[in-house]
Amino acid sequence: MPEIQARPAAREVGRGPRPTGEARTFAPDELIVSKTDLRGVITYANDVFLRVSRYELDEVIGRPHNLIRHPEMPRAVFALLWQTLSEGRELFAYINNLASDGAHYWVLAHVTPSYGPDGGIVGYHSNRRRPSPGAIRTVVPLYEQLLAEERRHPTAKAAVTASSRLLDELVAAQAESYEEFVWSVINREER
Ligand SMILES: Cc1cc2nc3c(=O)[nH]c(=O)nc-3n(C[C@H](O)[C@H](O)[C@H](O)COP(=O)(O)O)c2cc1C
Repeated sequence: MPEIQARPAAREVGRGPRPTGEARTFAPDELIVSKTDLRGVITYANDVFLRVSRYELDEVIGRPHNLIRHPEMPRAVFALLWQTLSEGRELFAYINNLASDGAHYWVLAHVTPSYGPDGGIVGYHSNRRRPSPGAIRTVVPLYEQLLAEERRHPTAKAAVTASSRLLDELVAAQAESYEEFVWSVINREER
């Protein structure tokens, strides 16, 4: 397989969609699926991904996954995602994504590393389902606190350091670990 060349995300060159505030959703029995290489460049997206994000396949393949990043998602969540994946572990996370037409859609993502025959990580895979409205209501105020912390810092590095620390504190106030915290949200809202 030839390596897919990374292309800049549209938002990096200032042409990214502007959030309109329109909330989009998808059916409870649908899965939004994508795969990436080790750098987070998209190598696969399923039809549900394309329909909900309003992109064509050739617009997403070869693009960094931050193509659909919503500006109101805290950096700390993505830092935790990449840290967890780099350790070869999977992660569940609630993520708000931005479609090409400016609508947003919340997902409950399950992101996993993929291993090659030599045991090394060769890429990543994400399956997303529709989160319950109650779960979104739980994570929105948490993410708002993280964002507020990030906005107090002049550099991205300082922002993510501070908000990652705050995320640790907020999680520790409620659970033994991030995994336990996220499962408590998933289970609480599905009962
Ligand atoms: C398999 C996989 C799936 C991802 N899915 C998303 C996603 O749905 N939305 C998103 O904003 N970032 C997603 N990311 C994280 C992005 O790579 C990136 O870290 C994030 O958008 C933050 O972008 P930024 O560093 O430019 O702020 C995913 C990463 C991987 C490895």
